[in-house]
Amino acid sequence: MQTLIPVFAVLCSCPVWSIRLEADQDTSAPEGWQHAGRVAPADRVELTFALRQQNVDQLRELLDLVSDPDSPRYGKFLSLEDVASLVGPSQLTRKVVWSWLQAHGADDCRTVATHDFLQCDMTVRVAENLLPGSEFHRYLKGQRSLVRSPAPYSVHDDLSKHLDFVGGVHRFPPEIEAVSRAWANGKQREAGFHLGVSPAVLRTRYNLTAADVGSAENNSQAVAQFLEQFYHPADLAEFMTLFGSGFKHMSKVARVVGTQGGGKAGVEASLDVEYIMSTGANVSTWVFTNPGRHETQEPFLQWMLLLSNMSAVPWVHTISYGDDEDSLAVAYMTRINIEFMKAGVRGLSILFASGDSGAGCRHLTKGSNAFRPSFPASSPYVTTVGGTSFKNPFKVTYEITDYISGGGFSNVFTMPDYQVSAVNSYLKAMQALPPSAYFNRSGRAYPDIAALSENYWVVTNRVPVPWVSGTSASTPVVGGILSLINDRRFLKGLPSLGFLNPRLYKLQGQGLFDVTEGCHLGCLDEQVEGKGFCAAPSWDPVTGWGTPNYPALLAALLD
Ligand SMILES: *[C@@H]1O[C@H](CO)[C@@H](O)[C@H](O)[C@H]1NC(C)=O
Ligand SMILES: *[C@@H]1O[C@H](CO)[C@@H](O)[C@H](O)[C@H]1NC(C)=O
Ligand SMILES: *[C@@H]1O[C@H](CO)[C@@H](O)[C@H](O)[C@H]1NC(C)=O
Ligand SMILES: *[C@@H]1O[C@H](CO)[C@@H](O)[C@H](O)[C@H]1NC(C)=O
Ligand SMILES: *[C@@H]1O[C@H](CO)[C@@H](O)[C@H](O)[C@H]1NC(C)=O
Repeated sequence: MQTLIPVFAVLCSCPVWSIRLEADQDTSAPEGWQHAGRVAPADRVELTFALRQQNVDQLRELLDLVSDPDSPRYGKFLSLEDVASLVGPSQLTRKVVWSWLQAHGADDCRTVATHDFLQCDMTVRVAENLLPGSEFHRYLKGQRSLVRSPAPYSVHDDLSKHLDFVGGVHRFPPEIEAVSRAWANGKQREAGFHLGVSPAVLRTRYNLTAADVGSAENNSQAVAQFLEQFYHPADLAEFMTLFGSGFKHMSKVARVVGTQGGGKAGVEASLDVEYIMSTGANVSTWVFTNPGRHETQEPFLQWMLLLSNMSAVPWVHTISYGDDEDSLAVAYMTRINIEFMKAGVRGLSILFASGDSGAGCRHLTKGSNAFRPSFPASSPYVTTVGGTSFKNPFKVTYEITDYISGGGFSNVFTMPDYQVSAVNSYLKAMQALPPSAYFNRSGRAYPDIAALSENYWVVTNRVPVPWVSGTSASTPVVGGILSLINDRRFLKGLPSLGFLNPRLYKLQGQGLFDVTEGCHLGCLDEQVEGKGFCAAPSWDPVTGWGTPNYPALLAALLD
């Protein structure tokens, strides 16, 4: 127990002395959420305090070194304990924040192994006093209920240098991405016609033989899901019965972290698990599901806390989740980006779907639009996965752009060194780029890599469903392939791949099928006429470097 510093007991909620940590955060409820009135002062909320970390520059430098195959420190990863002692907040920061919480009566708190988050349960009365300006209201959507503040919060000036942001006040969960195009338009298309993507099709296309399955003892991979739906073990078993012949695989998830249930089995939840276990076959698989059940928790943030609180976690994580960059506070994204660095120095590979809206579109003023990057896809410290389609839908031949494949340039994160030459070559080589007002050519460009994202077979509620599409399909496919490469590395006594991008960009496309045809979606205005960027030889902001050719990629990454 730490001692109380009395000074905070006398602080009033004077806005004059207050600082808004997330002044640029969108605090409005997204469409579909019904306002259901203010929450009673005695009701409880659970807030997450992101404490200011130390040595973040050192963390970044260290990540560059352990991820750079030409550095003598390549693969020399840190344990969670090492990360804690590197970035853990100062004693002063911990004391100031803790005393402030205690002084307000918020003393039911849990920390994480890295000491840089505190999660506290308190009454709404206490929360509103802690965070001047905040006002907690309830919102409903179907069976779901959330508590959020539509009014911006602030903290006392003295606190602002010890806190990055407070979670559980503003952000609403983004919506599900994967869609079954069969039902998207209300009319079911003729299955049967089309080949459809199944494990066998993927394994053929990406050159995985029956022998290409995991066998290293301690290998593991994970999918993280933040939906009000769950994967059903019986669906996975059924999927493997229908589609799993010809390669050794597991039909059961090794570990579920979080709470299954509340919702129902869903297409998206089934998709991730079924496909990471088809390319990353016979690799032990975890599912992080609905972490955080309290009405004020942010499930994505909750998953980040879990990573900082578990010393043994899988090596590869795939996540289909994203929000518009412009709706999120820069302070929040900057901190989440540091969380990705923390994962990277531990040797974890974090993969995000690039999104399903192409370049996206944001309406600025009347008649003036710009593309709309998505976060965390736009983080320089994750590997972002785009989507492709077969050129000939009836044959396992070469791939072209899937027009939904998310891609573009961040307006928040500057372009990391590892991609500068690849991106500049693209920008120089393209004859017809979208007008420069639509994108920020100095930003982090994504995706980094891609895989098929159209017409997958998924088993959900025991029924095989065709035509499931989205980058939430391509992401676990790439994740599973990276797990197989990790597997071969482990058998040779090598460390995991960790944060892949620095090495991926040095490969210059080696080990990948270059995708050079097609463009993705953009704004539906006269200036760009529905088009965003177009694929091209080498790297492009639609399909990255292309899709994996497993044996060639393995050969390139096996030292
Ligand atoms: C982190 O893990 C410890 C030990 O398992 C636990 O006591 C603590 O509650 C966890 N922290 C959070 C925020 O859940
Ligand atoms: C992998 O697949 C491609 C295209 O299907 C094929 O041309 C190639 O020979 C295969 N094998 C290797 C080792 O690349
Ligand atoms: C599957 O993985 C286990 C280790 O989890 C290994 O013992 C076994 O040999 C693997 N099977 C094949 C066919 O490689
Ligand atoms: C696998 O993990 C166990 C438990 O963490 C550990 O004792 C063992 O040394 C590991 N084996 C290998 C081959 O890394
Ligand atoms: C463009 O991106 C940079 C970071 O890469 C950022 O500093 C700048 O504000 C962005 N410009 C716009 C107009 O968003």
